Amino acid sequence: MAEEKPFQRLPTNVTPVNYDIEITPNFGDFTFKGSQKIDLLITAETKEITMNAADLTVRNGVFLDNASGAKINARHVEFDTPLETVKFVFDPPLKSGSAGVLSMEFDGSINDKMKGFYRSKFQGPNGEDRYNGVTQFEATDARRCFPCWDEPSVKATFDIGLVVEKEKVTLSNMPVKATSPVSGSDNLHLVQFERTPIMSTYLVALVIGDFEYIETKSTDGVLCRVYTPPGKLEQGRFALDVVARVLPYYKEYFGIAYPLPKIDLVAIADFSAGAMENWGLVTYRETCLLIDEKQSSSSNRQWVALVVGHEAAHMWFGNLVTMEWWTHLWLNEGYATFVEFLCVDHLFPEYDIWTQFVTETFIRALELDCLENSHPIEVPVGHPSEIDEIFDDISYNKGACIIRMLHDYIGDTDFRKGMNLYLTRHQYKNAFTEDLWAALEEASGKPVGAVMGTWTKQMGFPLIRVLASRQEGTNRVIELSQEKFCTDPCKKTDGNYHWMIPLTFCSSSNPAKPIYSTLMDSQSMTVTIPNVSENEWVKLNPGTIGFYRVQYPPEILEQFLPAIQQKVLPPVDRLGLLDDVFALVQSGQTGTTNVLKLLDAFKDETNYTVWSSISNVMSKLNLLLQYTDYHDQFKAYGRKLFSSIEEKVGWEAKPDESHLDTMLRTLVLLRMTTFGHEKTIEEANKRLKQHVSGEKTIIADLRTVVYRGVLSVGDESTYNALLKLYHESNMQEEKDRIGRSLGAIKDPELLRKVLEFSISNDVRSQDSVFVIISVGMSKTGREIAWNFFKENKELFRERYPGGGLISRLVKYVTEDFVTEEMATEVEKFFIENSFPGTERTVQQSIESIRLNGSWLKRDENAVRQYLQTVGL
Ligand code: BES
Ligand code: ZN
Repeated sequence: MAEEKPFQRLPTNVTPVNYDIEITPNFGDFTFKGSQKIDLLITAETKEITMNAADLTVRNGVFLDNASGAKINARHVEFDTPLETVKFVFDPPLKSGSAGVLSMEFDGSINDKMKGFYRSKFQGPNGEDRYNGVTQFEATDARRCFPCWDEPSVKATFDIGLVVEKEKVTLSNMPVKATSPVSGSDNLHLVQFERTPIMSTYLVALVIGDFEYIETKSTDGVLCRVYTPPGKLEQGRFALDVVARVLPYYKEYFGIAYPLPKIDLVAIADFSAGAMENWGLVTYRETCLLIDEKQSSSSNRQWVALVVGHEAAHMWFGNLVTMEWWTHLWLNEGYATFVEFLCVDHLFPEYDIWTQFVTETFIRALELDCLENSHPIEVPVGHPSEIDEIFDDISYNKGACIIRMLHDYIGDTDFRKGMNLYLTRHQYKNAFTEDLWAALEEASGKPVGAVMGTWTKQMGFPLIRVLASRQEGTNRVIELSQEKFCTDPCKKTDGNYHWMIPLTFCSSSNPAKPIYSTLMDSQSMTVTIPNVSENEWVKLNPGTIGFYRVQYPPEILEQFLPAIQQKVLPPVDRLGLLDDVFALVQSGQTGTTNVLKLLDAFKDETNYTVWSSISNVMSKLNLLLQYTDYHDQFKAYGRKLFSSIEEKVGWEAKPDESHLDTMLRTLVLLRMTTFGHEKTIEEANKRLKQHVSGEKTIIADLRTVVYRGVLSVGDESTYNALLKLYHESNMQEEKDRIGRSLGAIKDPELLRKVLEFSISNDVRSQDSVFVIISVGMSKTGREIAWNFFKENKELFRERYPGGGLISRLVKYVTEDFVTEEMATEVEKFFIENSFPGTERTVQQSIESIRLNGSWLKRDENAVRQYLQTVGL
């Protein structure tokens, strides 16, 4: 590997004010030509103008001095390929304080890597291959489309023009200002867009191609459109409704209106991430935007609402106020992740989305952040591959969790006040994490900066131990300690870690409402809670809001059991208790059998999210116990645990059942198929037959259950039947569902076929990774998928240069192994074969494998005995 140069940010002696860019794409040979005139200010005398450029050729650099009218040609143009910069050298130097226009021409290619300016393929009306041109610039790929100061703090305005075929839909951040003919061409025209507000380069976007749209005006007067591939117009209806309703909501919440005249949401057939918040032109993977009333599942509806809400939140948080550098990425992503839940809770209260926040966001953040190879929320980053790497569960999920904790700590009124202050103060500019704290501190009068610094600057989170509890009159006196939660039981906890923790308590008289709150700022603390009677229990962290784990002595934990059984404790608290115990199991601080015993208390559970948490625990146990000789018994245990809820939910939707009941059915039946429940698999087989014959279509919510169910016992003909469905569908959601189910098949030969299929022309690059991951979910599949990854390493490196897809692939084909041999093998492989942007993921995987191994050794026998005694 080439030596990496130390990273440096661009020199600040020259600042861009406005880019006037014209781009002419050629979809015949996938190249483009560009020219631009950049208005500049020279803030310090210099011979050089350095900006970013990558995979471009640049010609004819000329500086026009505004004052003198002199035109100075650049002596030469120098590229630095590793640093992705281009330097224009002038002699004599450009004077400090002068203003001028730097003009240049450039060429590039419309690549197929889903970054920069790239092409997305679709089939034309006669089955021929056709291409749309789209851009994805975040984090550092605007420089692949036009030379620019590609750093978030170097904001400028943009005048964009595109020379394109007249019949193509042509979009950019702003509305079209004018179209004009191109001399010498009948079929091309120049489309010019209005000037953008001052903004960062990573938010610029272009879309050129075949689309249809539907539109509406939001009540605050913004023109909202959803662009879909031809023929899929109606599938944009749901997202259109969400975006038109959320803009006025955010306007009210932040106290600032959306500043652009329009917002377009575009479904892109090939997309690396899920969606991208380009200002005024938000791009989406089809599965994150399109909803078909018949073909889409409830969970996908909910997902689309979250994604639309998330990207819309960025219009304020990210676009209007932008992080000063990528170290503060979490300001964008953590905050938008928090707000997407506000949005969905507002628009769809029946989703009870804040409870789902705990399973989807909170627990995932804790699961990653307990590793030695986690990282602080604020993390120094330089090179593009380091930047790519922090779009992870820490920036997004832990970021959202600490915002939620802060929101709870200062209250909604002060939170809104502080947000408005922050956004107003820094609008059209940039901000550091401290700026957010300062505004919220001003609004609330609470020590926000001091408290929050302990959560963003240190990695990990605390374990709070309840050391003792006693009654003193009408007071409950509780002794607590904090230390860093460590999953590796052999590691000594690091005494230097220390958090300022907003603590809250509730009691059995009203488990849903905190009766006492305080700030814990030391290693240990005695808390005196007034007005608690002797026979009441007291629980920490009602609502599961504080970003920490709690360990109770067994006799206190036991007091909660009736409240779980009788569902007196709210769902978030029931599942929070379970997950804390499970985390202690994984870290060896209590035995696995204790979580199994605790699960007994959930026999009569009916809440979707609680079952989702139980399911998470069972999946993790299943991954581990696949490597024991009693895996079948564990599956029987699982069937028993889920049996009464399975009977309750059945296969048929009840009239008028809730969104969450529908999701519960999917969850429970899916679990039953993985536990090998014969009745469920039989029903799945029956339903697939009816579906394929056209007798009765399976409703969208049950398709994954059926597909995975039939495949889990299926042979080649089952596999072929599913492939046929895959080919017949033109909906990405359906293809994705099938693709992600294929790995459920057991026969190793067929698993290899699935892997070949995953990288064939039938599967888009954006989807391959998920098909491969599905193979890696079982013990047999995992080995096959890992070997497949190794055999095809060059292909993957070439397909996914940096970015989230390769990291996911690496994570999921490695992290669930359980032996030291595999840990060493994975370690060695990635030392010999580097995949830039996956370095931390690799370290996390290796750590996970070792943790799995010690967990299995620790508890394997105890679990065997336990399963024997419960008699299945
Ligand atoms: N800003 C991101 C898109 C992005 C992700 C760009 C990674 C570059 C690298 C966008 O706002 C986002 O967060 N998208 C999410 C979906 C969201 C609902 C969690 C995504 O793509 O996964
Ligand atoms: Zn985002």
